[in-house]
Amino acid sequence: MSKLTKDVVPSTSGAPMVRAEGVHKSFGPAHILKGIDLEVNPREVFCLIGPSGSGKSTFLRCINHLEKITAGRLYVDGQLVGYRQKGDKLYELKEREVAAQRREIGMVFQRFNLFPHMTALENVMEAPLQVKREGKAAARERAEQLLDRVGLGSRKGHYPAQLSGGQQQRVAIARALAMQPKLMLFDEPTSALDPELVGEVLDVMRDLAEDGMTMIVVTHEMGFAREVGDSLVFMDDGVVVEAGHPREVLTNPQHDRTKSFLSKVL
Ligand SMILES: Nc1ncnc2c1ncn2[C@@H]1O[C@H](COP(=O)(O)OP(=O)(O)O)[C@@H](O)[C@H]1O
Ligand SMILES: [Mg+2]
Repeated sequence: MSKLTKDVVPSTSGAPMVRAEGVHKSFGPAHILKGIDLEVNPREVFCLIGPSGSGKSTFLRCINHLEKITAGRLYVDGQLVGYRQKGDKLYELKEREVAAQRREIGMVFQRFNLFPHMTALENVMEAPLQVKREGKAAARERAEQLLDRVGLGSRKGHYPAQLSGGQQQRVAIARALAMQPKLMLFDEPTSALDPELVGEVLDVMRDLAEDGMTMIVVTHEMGFAREVGDSLVFMDDGVVVEAGHPREVLTNPQHDRTKSFLSKVL
């Protein structure tokens, strides 16, 4: 579905990085995702927009199996998320196997969720040390490189409370990258920031995109979607209403619901 403007480097499996086939999600009687079909290619920056409550966060949470889908199929890098298929039957993976899948996906939230009692450096080192059982020297070296990369080399000894929101979010991005994910999910990463701090976070994301990271970005930053995005999907009420190249969708939306949404946010 999604068109690519940059060269596609095949993933290890040769499969799309994310493939959703008829994905449904209900919470009790509430039917939230109503049949999502989409594909995200390796190295693609895939932007997801839509009104509040349309199911964007729920969809991201399904991708790393923080939520279980109620119907359909969801694949990351060719592997079913949360299940193993034998014949036409699905078997749930064990928690340990789900955790292994989740480790390959980095997630950045609106609220940075840094550990308040740890410095920036310790925040970035924590998962490699605890989850991957990496050696301290190696974890520290990569954490320092990552903090340099997000422009915070000089702030590594600072605690979250001593950092601005934009700086905290950049630490959160470095922390997600420390696990060397093959896919990054961003859920409104700049929505909680003062306007003057948005740019520094988007710059880091743009840099990551140029490096070839596969990214799904839920955002209201239409400038970012237009300049950095390879694809844009407009979601409303649990369905994909419209998808295409960001410039096409943003300048020439085909559906009334898309037009009406864009008239409010542009
Ligand atoms: N754990 C949950 N239990 C019940 N309803 C939920 C839960 N999580 C999300 N929802 C509902 O799903 C809908 C979509 O939410 P969400 O995915 O957060 O939308 P968006 O991110 O597009 O604003 C909302 O109506 C929300 O109340
Ligand atoms: Mg949301």
